[in-house]
Amino acid sequence: MRTVIASILVAALVVLLGGFAVIYAGLYDVAATEPHSPVTSWLLETARTRSIKAHAAGIQTPPGLDDPAKVIIGVEHYAAHCAVCHGAPGVPNGDIAHGLYPQPPNLSEAAKRYSPGELFWILKNGIKMSGMPAWSDHSDAELWSTVAFLKRLPGMSEQEYAGLVMASMAHGGHDHAGDHDSATPSTHDTSHNQQ
Ligand code: HEC
Repeated sequence: MRTVIASILVAALVVLLGGFAVIYAGLYDVAATEPHSPVTSWLLETARTRSIKAHAAGIQTPPGLDDPAKVIIGVEHYAAHCAVCHGAPGVPNGDIAHGLYPQPPNLSEAAKRYSPGELFWILKNGIKMSGMPAWSDHSDAELWSTVAFLKRLPGMSEQEYAGLVMASMAHGGHDHAGDHDSATPSTHDTSHNQQ
Protein backbone atom coordinates (compact mmCIF):
# COMPACT_ATOMS: atom_id res chain seq x y z
CA MET A 1 0.00 0.00 0.00
CA ARG A 2 2.78 2.34 1.00
CA THR A 3 4.69 1.79 -2.21
CA VAL A 4 1.52 2.52 -4.23
CA ILE A 5 1.02 5.86 -2.46
CA ALA A 6 4.71 6.71 -2.84
CA SER A 7 4.59 5.91 -6.58
CA ILE A 8 1.49 8.10 -7.05
CA LEU A 9 3.17 10.99 -5.23
CA VAL A 10 6.35 10.63 -7.30
CA ALA A 11 4.31 10.49 -10.53
CA ALA A 12 2.37 13.62 -9.49
CA LEU A 13 5.63 15.42 -8.72
CA VAL A 14 7.09 14.45 -12.10
CA VAL A 15 3.98 15.77 -13.90
CA LEU A 16 4.10 18.99 -11.86
CA LEU A 17 7.82 19.55 -12.53
CA GLY A 18 7.32 18.65 -16.21
CA GLY A 19 4.52 21.26 -16.48
CA PHE A 20 6.64 23.85 -14.73
CA ALA A 21 9.60 23.09 -17.06
CA VAL A 22 7.39 23.48 -20.17
CA ILE A 23 6.10 26.86 -18.93
CA TYR A 24 9.47 28.12 -17.74
CA ALA A 25 11.19 27.12 -20.99
CA GLY A 26 8.59 29.24 -22.86
CA LEU A 27 7.21 26.26 -24.77
CA TYR A 28 3.58 27.16 -24.03
CA ASP A 29 2.36 29.26 -26.96
CA VAL A 30 0.43 32.36 -25.84
CA ALA A 31 -0.15 33.59 -29.44
CA ALA A 32 -3.78 34.64 -30.02
CA THR A 33 -3.54 32.93 -33.42
CA GLU A 34 -2.95 29.51 -31.82
CA PRO A 35 -6.21 27.91 -30.51
CA HIS A 36 -6.27 26.36 -27.02
CA SER A 37 -5.97 22.60 -26.71
CA PRO A 38 -9.29 20.89 -25.89
CA VAL A 39 -8.12 20.39 -22.28
CA THR A 40 -7.22 24.08 -21.79
CA SER A 41 -10.51 25.15 -23.45
CA TRP A 42 -12.49 22.88 -21.14
CA LEU A 43 -10.62 24.13 -18.06
CA LEU A 44 -11.07 27.82 -18.94
CA GLU A 45 -14.71 27.48 -19.95
CA THR A 46 -15.64 25.46 -16.87
CA ALA A 47 -13.77 27.88 -14.59
CA ARG A 48 -15.53 30.85 -16.23
CA THR A 49 -19.06 29.40 -16.08
CA ARG A 50 -18.72 28.06 -12.52
CA SER A 51 -17.12 31.28 -11.29
CA ILE A 52 -19.85 33.49 -12.81
CA LYS A 53 -22.61 31.31 -11.32
CA ALA A 54 -21.00 31.26 -7.88
CA HIS A 55 -20.19 34.98 -7.72
CA ALA A 56 -23.57 36.10 -9.05
CA ALA A 57 -25.60 33.78 -6.79
CA GLY A 58 -26.63 36.49 -4.28
CA ILE A 59 -27.46 39.25 -6.78
CA GLN A 60 -31.11 40.35 -6.64
CA THR A 61 -32.69 41.43 -9.91
CA PRO A 62 -34.38 44.83 -9.45
CA PRO A 63 -38.11 44.93 -10.32
CA GLY A 64 -39.29 46.24 -13.70
CA LEU A 65 -36.44 44.85 -15.81
CA ASP A 66 -38.82 44.46 -18.76
CA ASP A 67 -39.77 48.17 -18.65
CA PRO A 68 -39.42 49.44 -22.28
CA ALA A 69 -37.80 52.66 -20.98
CA LYS A 70 -34.96 50.56 -19.48
CA VAL A 71 -34.50 48.68 -22.76
CA ILE A 72 -34.13 52.04 -24.58
CA ILE A 73 -31.40 53.18 -22.15
CA GLY A 74 -29.81 49.73 -22.45
CA VAL A 75 -29.69 49.76 -26.25
CA GLU A 76 -27.96 53.14 -26.17
CA HIS A 77 -25.32 51.76 -23.82
CA TYR A 78 -24.97 48.59 -25.88
CA ALA A 79 -24.61 50.40 -29.21
CA ALA A 80 -21.98 52.74 -27.75
CA HIS A 81 -19.86 50.24 -25.80
CA CYS A 82 -20.56 46.64 -26.74
CA ALA A 83 -21.52 46.29 -30.42
CA VAL A 84 -17.95 47.12 -31.51
CA CYS A 85 -16.90 43.72 -30.13
CA HIS A 86 -20.11 41.68 -29.99
CA GLY A 87 -21.98 43.05 -33.03
CA ALA A 88 -25.77 43.47 -33.01
CA PRO A 89 -28.66 42.48 -35.31
CA GLY A 90 -27.63 43.92 -38.71
CA VAL A 91 -24.38 45.34 -37.29
CA PRO A 92 -21.15 43.40 -37.85
CA ASN A 93 -18.56 43.69 -35.08
CA GLY A 94 -15.63 46.07 -35.59
CA ASP A 95 -12.01 45.48 -36.58
CA ILE A 96 -10.82 45.32 -32.97
CA ALA A 97 -12.91 42.19 -32.42
CA HIS A 98 -11.50 40.18 -35.31
CA GLY A 99 -8.12 39.31 -33.83
CA LEU A 100 -9.31 38.73 -30.28
CA TYR A 101 -8.91 35.30 -28.76
CA PRO A 102 -11.24 34.18 -27.32
CA GLN A 103 -13.57 35.76 -29.90
CA PRO A 104 -16.34 37.96 -28.45
CA PRO A 105 -19.41 35.71 -28.75
CA ASN A 106 -22.72 36.59 -30.39
CA LEU A 107 -24.77 37.67 -27.40
CA SER A 108 -28.11 36.69 -28.96
CA GLU A 109 -27.07 33.16 -28.04
CA ALA A 110 -25.05 33.84 -24.88
CA ALA A 111 -27.70 36.03 -23.21
CA LYS A 112 -30.06 33.04 -23.08
CA ARG A 113 -27.64 30.99 -21.00
CA TYR A 114 -27.34 33.48 -18.14
CA SER A 115 -29.78 34.82 -15.56
CA PRO A 116 -30.14 38.63 -15.27
CA GLY A 117 -27.98 38.57 -12.10
CA GLU A 118 -25.25 36.64 -13.89
CA LEU A 119 -25.29 39.05 -16.83
CA PHE A 120 -25.07 41.99 -14.41
CA TRP A 121 -22.07 40.39 -12.68
CA ILE A 122 -20.31 39.81 -16.04
CA LEU A 123 -20.86 43.43 -17.12
CA LYS A 124 -19.73 44.89 -13.81
CA ASN A 125 -16.65 42.70 -13.37
CA GLY A 126 -15.52 41.67 -16.85
CA ILE A 127 -13.78 38.35 -17.56
CA LYS A 128 -10.10 37.78 -16.81
CA MET A 129 -7.71 36.69 -19.58
CA SER A 130 -10.11 37.66 -22.35
CA GLY A 131 -10.94 40.95 -24.05
CA MET A 132 -14.11 41.38 -21.95
CA PRO A 133 -13.69 44.61 -19.96
CA ALA A 134 -15.19 45.38 -16.53
CA TRP A 135 -17.71 48.22 -16.71
CA SER A 136 -17.53 48.99 -12.99
CA ASP A 137 -17.22 52.73 -13.66
CA HIS A 138 -20.75 52.72 -15.13
CA SER A 139 -23.72 53.10 -12.80
CA ASP A 140 -25.59 50.01 -11.64
CA ALA A 141 -28.78 51.50 -13.14
CA GLU A 142 -27.07 51.75 -16.53
CA LEU A 143 -25.75 48.19 -16.29
CA TRP A 144 -29.19 46.82 -15.31
CA SER A 145 -30.67 48.64 -18.31
CA THR A 146 -28.08 46.94 -20.52
CA VAL A 147 -29.12 43.61 -18.98
CA ALA A 148 -32.76 44.52 -19.77
CA PHE A 149 -31.72 44.98 -23.40
CA LEU A 150 -29.67 41.73 -23.46
CA LYS A 151 -32.71 39.80 -22.24
CA ARG A 152 -34.66 41.14 -25.25
CA LEU A 153 -31.82 40.39 -27.70
CA PRO A 154 -32.41 36.67 -28.50
CA GLY A 155 -34.39 36.53 -31.75
CA MET A 156 -34.36 40.33 -32.25
CA SER A 157 -34.57 41.34 -35.93
CA GLU A 158 -32.42 44.00 -37.62
CA GLN A 159 -35.48 46.25 -37.94
CA GLU A 160 -36.34 45.89 -34.28
CA TYR A 161 -32.77 46.73 -33.25
CA ALA A 162 -32.59 49.71 -35.62
CA GLY A 163 -35.95 50.91 -34.24
CA LEU A 164 -34.67 50.72 -30.66
CA VAL A 165 -31.45 52.56 -31.55
CA MET A 166 -33.48 55.33 -33.20
CA ALA A 167 -35.85 55.49 -30.23
CA SER A 168 -32.83 55.86 -27.91
CA MET A 169 -31.52 58.73 -30.04
CA ALA A 170 -34.92 60.44 -30.12
CA HIS A 171 -35.00 59.99 -26.35
CA GLY A 172 -31.69 61.91 -26.34
CA GLY A 173 -30.46 59.63 -23.59
CA HIS A 174 -26.87 59.32 -24.67
CA ASP A 175 -24.03 61.15 -23.04
CA HIS A 176 -21.36 59.46 -25.11
CA ALA A 177 -21.70 61.50 -28.29
CA GLY A 178 -19.27 60.39 -30.97
CA ASP A 179 -19.09 56.79 -29.77
CA HIS A 180 -21.93 55.69 -31.98
CA ASP A 181 -20.38 55.67 -35.40
CA SER A 182 -19.18 52.08 -35.46
CA ALA A 183 -22.19 50.69 -33.64
CA THR A 184 -25.27 52.04 -35.36
CA PRO A 185 -26.85 50.14 -38.26
CA SER A 186 -25.22 51.33 -41.47
CA THR A 187 -28.47 52.54 -43.01
CA HIS A 188 -29.19 54.87 -40.12
CA ASP A 189 -25.88 56.07 -38.85
CA THR A 190 -25.29 59.45 -40.42
CA SER A 191 -28.51 61.38 -40.19
CA HIS A 192 -29.26 60.56 -36.57
CA ASN A 193 -25.93 61.30 -35.01
CA GLN A 194 -26.13 65.02 -35.39
CA GLN A 195 -28.39 66.25 -32.66
C1 HEC B 1 -13.01 44.77 -26.44
C2 HEC B 1 -14.04 43.84 -26.79
C3 HEC B 1 -15.27 43.72 -25.91
C4 HEC B 1 -16.14 44.71 -25.54
C5 HEC B 1 -16.06 46.19 -25.86
C6 HEC B 1 -17.19 44.05 -24.79
N1 HEC B 1 -16.95 42.71 -24.72
FE1 HEC B 1 -18.16 41.30 -23.85
N2 HEC B 1 -16.78 39.85 -24.23
C7 HEC B 1 -15.64 40.03 -24.98
C8 HEC B 1 -14.95 38.76 -25.10
C9 HEC B 1 -13.63 38.52 -25.83
C10 HEC B 1 -15.74 37.81 -24.41
C11 HEC B 1 -15.47 36.30 -24.29
C12 HEC B 1 -14.87 35.98 -22.94
C13 HEC B 1 -14.59 34.51 -22.78
O1 HEC B 1 -14.90 33.71 -23.66
O2 HEC B 1 -14.03 34.16 -21.74
C14 HEC B 1 -16.89 38.54 -23.89
C15 HEC B 1 -17.90 37.95 -23.14
C16 HEC B 1 -19.08 38.57 -22.80
C17 HEC B 1 -20.20 37.92 -22.17
C18 HEC B 1 -20.25 36.46 -21.75
C19 HEC B 1 -20.58 35.61 -22.93
C20 HEC B 1 -20.44 34.11 -22.71
O3 HEC B 1 -20.70 33.37 -23.67
O4 HEC B 1 -20.08 33.68 -21.62
C21 HEC B 1 -21.19 38.86 -22.04
C22 HEC B 1 -22.59 38.66 -21.47
C23 HEC B 1 -20.66 40.11 -22.57
N3 HEC B 1 -19.38 39.91 -23.03
C24 HEC B 1 -21.38 41.29 -22.63
C25 HEC B 1 -20.81 42.51 -23.03
C26 HEC B 1 -21.51 43.77 -22.95
C27 HEC B 1 -22.97 43.95 -22.54
C28 HEC B 1 -20.63 44.74 -23.33
C29 HEC B 1 -20.82 46.24 -23.33
C30 HEC B 1 -21.16 46.85 -22.05
C31 HEC B 1 -19.39 44.07 -23.73
N4 HEC B 1 -19.55 42.72 -23.52
C32 HEC B 1 -18.28 44.70 -24.26
C33 HEC B 1 -15.19 41.22 -25.54
C34 HEC B 1 -15.78 42.46 -25.37
